[in-house]
Amino acid sequence: MNLLVTGGAGYIGSHTCLELLKQNHNITVVDNLSNSSEESLRRVQQITGKKLSFYKVDLLDRDALNNVLQSQSKKIDAVIHFAGFKAVGESVQRPLWYYQNNVQSTLNLCEVMDANGVRNIIFSSSCTVYGNPDVVPVHEDLPLSGTNPYGRSKVMVEQVLNDIYQADNRWNIGLLRYFNPIGAHESGQIGEDPLGIPNNLLPYISQVAIGKLKQLTVFGGDYSTADGSCVRDYIHVVDLAVGHVKALEKLEENPGVVAYNLGTGQGYSVLEVIAAFEKVTGEKVPHIISGRRSGDAAECYGNPEKAKMELSWQAERSIEDMCRDTWRWQKANPNGYC
Ligand code: NAD
Ligand code: WQD
Repeated sequence: MNLLVTGGAGYIGSHTCLELLKQNHNITVVDNLSNSSEESLRRVQQITGKKLSFYKVDLLDRDALNNVLQSQSKKIDAVIHFAGFKAVGESVQRPLWYYQNNVQSTLNLCEVMDANGVRNIIFSSSCTVYGNPDVVPVHEDLPLSGTNPYGRSKVMVEQVLNDIYQADNRWNIGLLRYFNPIGAHESGQIGEDPLGIPNNLLPYISQVAIGKLKQLTVFGGDYSTADGSCVRDYIHVVDLAVGHVKALEKLEENPGVVAYNLGTGQGYSVLEVIAAFEKVTGEKVPHIISGRRSGDAAECYGNPEKAKMELSWQAERSIEDMCRDTWRWQKANPNGYC
């Protein structure tokens, strides 16, 4: 297929481009590089021995985006839409920035797609659309609610995409709700490269293990979980990337709007993740247990059965694989892509 990938230079986007190239899809990436480097795409092409096209374009610039679609020699068959901001805390500080960059940019993208007769899209949604769930595992039919501007931007975009389909059922829309992506490609050449001090658990752990940060703070040890720390559904980024390839195949069946949880269905606590990381790497992760982080749910993990049944997809990599691959990437690239 001829694919447009927005945000393709980022963490999940680059891993997905790699899997798509392996399947011989033609790829055009648009990314403004606000949270990534073109080096990720250079490495993707080096690993696969295949080429993709790259345009440094901001989705808020509708004309520039339209030019990319117009300049294609073959019509785009589908768009995979990763581009957006993702830091929960930052979204609370700068809500307008998040609504602009996550919602307005998606409106631009859909308008440009429609004008160019492209009506197949896969959207990077998130488990955050389930809010603070009362019951786990969460399933796709639960009501959606955001607990912060980032989360609400994902809920809003899901609603917008549903409305677009209601108005014009030529659209096919895959809403992929990711749980907690971690890990890196097994080559150790591409991985997660956060700007500044990481917010997320695994990048923080690996920067402590390599000595860039002194110790990890475990946010909360008094939750009603087996060991008192929070439980999440960590999923290997390569499994997630493969999920996109499967979702694209699903869109070819003209399914309308479909939503899928992409997770393992298995929860691990923060302390279990630290133990798994220490076991597979042989490195110590000094940590202290502090108070809870505001807004954290005690437990969040998903039921991935729908994706298994309808996409013939399931996560295959273990928590040990996730930690091992994160560490391989961190050791080989202590300063990320710099
Ligand atoms: P990332 O920051 O690594 O990738 C996002 C990419 O989008 C970056 O390359 C960035 O430069 C680009 N971008 C941002 N705004 C843009 C704009 N206006 N125009 C063009 N490019 C723009 O993040 P990621 O972890 O790869 O996440 C990808 C998507 O998945 C995001 O939409 C995110 O919200 C969603 N998601 C991520 C996670 C996670 O934990 N990583 C979980 C659930 C959902
Ligand atoms: C994981 C666990 C922390 C850092 C976020 C977004 C969510 C989705 C996935 C995009 C939690 C604990 C963390 C640290 C810690 N993203 N932790 N010390 O919060 O589950 O989910 O990413 O859609 O929307 O909210 O991920 O990696 O921040 O935290 O103890 O230094 O690790 O309390 O239990 P989270 P995370």
